Amino acid sequence: MDSFEINKIFGAICATALFILVLTIVTDFLYSEPELEQQAYVVDVPDMDMPVADVTPEVVEVDVMELLVMASLENGQKVAKKCVSCHNFEAGSANKIGPNLYNIVDRQMGIMDGFAYSNAINERGANNESWTFENLFHFLENPKKWLPGTIMGYAGIRKPKDRADLIVYLHDISPDSESTIE
Ligand code: HEC
Repeated sequence: MDSFEINKIFGAICATALFILVLTIVTDFLYSEPELEQQAYVVDVPDMDMPVADVTPEVVEVDVMELLVMASLENGQKVAKKCVSCHNFEAGSANKIGPNLYNIVDRQMGIMDGFAYSNAINERGANNESWTFENLFHFLENPKKWLPGTIMGYAGIRKPKDRADLIVYLHDISPDSESTIE
């Protein structure tokens, strides 16, 4: 092998190395993705002290009024049995572990006389907030999540339809409410 041949081989190696280098730079450039500034998916991690049946987060945004229009008062009455260990529903009846729920729809939060509410509810009430359809719908899904600090020890009702049915029943026993379902 003479030096000319060695130079040729050396030259060929250099050319190949250069080619690979250029190729790497070009593909890097073509296939690089822009850095995401924010996480694309925000995962909703439920509280760990919730019962297992309630941990599936709700994915679908629902139109509350649409559910109310289709709701069943009869089923709502059944769902309300879940509340009777702590709440009365009749006009003028006493507060139990929870306040009386007669006339609850559109009632200002935290105003039943003689009931010791949490600060969480008192603050909302002091802000003139009331139990609208929407507020009830979200509170009853998961009271502690929607209203941190509440002392209502109830896990919530997962099925949107059951909540809507229950709210239609609550509306039925709320003669002072001016909200209509349509
Ligand atoms: C284990 C007892 C318990 C059960 C069961 C329960 N609640 Fe309650 N509820 C409470 C307590 C205690 C409060 C007061 C919460 C506070 O002050 O943070 C409350 C408050 C409320 C309020 C707010 C009332 C107001 O005057 O501002 C609503 C509305 C309500 N409950 C609806 C319901 C419904 C509907 C159910 C049935 C699906 C239910 N609760 C089941 C104990 C209970």
